Amino acid sequence: MAPPSFIIVAIDGGAASGKSSSARLLADRFDLLHVDTGSFYRHLTAELLRRGVPATDLPALRTALGALQLTTRVEGRSARMLVDGQPAGDEIRSEEVNRHVSHYAAVPEVRQTLLGYQRGQTEVARASGFRGLVMEGRDIGSVIFPQADCRFFLHADPVERAKRRAAEGRQDSIAERDRLDTSRKTSPLTCPPGAIDIDSTHLTLPEVVEKMSTVIAARQGIA
Ligand code: CDP
Ligand code: CDP
Repeated sequence: MAPPSFIIVAIDGGAASGKSSSARLLADRFDLLHVDTGSFYRHLTAELLRRGVPATDLPALRTALGALQLTTRVEGRSARMLVDGQPAGDEIRSEEVNRHVSHYAAVPEVRQTLLGYQRGQTEVARASGFRGLVMEGRDIGSVIFPQADCRFFLHADPVERAKRRAAEGRQDSIAERDRLDTSRKTSPLTCPPGAIDIDSTHLTLPEVVEKMSTVIAARQGIA
């Protein structure tokens, strides 16, 4: 069988499970576009908060979402979402956005707005000459790319994840976001059947990336 010429790698998992760190390293190793969909949800959240549109006001939310223009700028190996031409600022990692993001992300209209945009990143990756993309989030292997070439689900003990965030010097409502993300009706955080489940609680980042790389290389026929 010929190796796939363009590979899609999906990584899902809870907050601070190691998605972004592993996705960045895999992007370098396999020449992939890195797509951090959490940053998209964070950027939309920051924008809606700035406009004073609460997650509970559906009519206002629909109007605001319908008027937003979402485009992409590739910076190095990363896909940056632009909202009305503007990149995200540092505020997307703020405590305020941490507190609100899962509420906006639970609204089907918000998810629908990002669904086509996220799938469209394959065209961005191709047009920019990458050999594929690695996309990370909560519903990538279950909803966005259920047919991805490789699907990973990262687990880690909540205490260990809280330690990781603290070590980064960041305040985060990890447990509350996990609770909201796993319990919402639309596209909840779950390990989809067939995805490769990795418990990273006692693994270093290089060990996690090594495990994933073995699977990807085998899929590409270069193992
Ligand atoms: O980096 P961390 O794991 O803490 O969070 P993130 O990936 O930046 O995602 C922030 C929030 O966006 C999550 O808590 C989810 O509520 C939402 N999200 C989502 O619902 N679906 C995705 N594919 C990605 C993020
Ligand atoms: O993207 P996500 O929120 O899932 O996690 P991350 O931002 O990639 O990782 C959170 C922190 O945990 C980073 O500082 C990583 O270097 C660290 N980490 C770790 O110590 N051991 C792992 N096996 C994975 C990540």
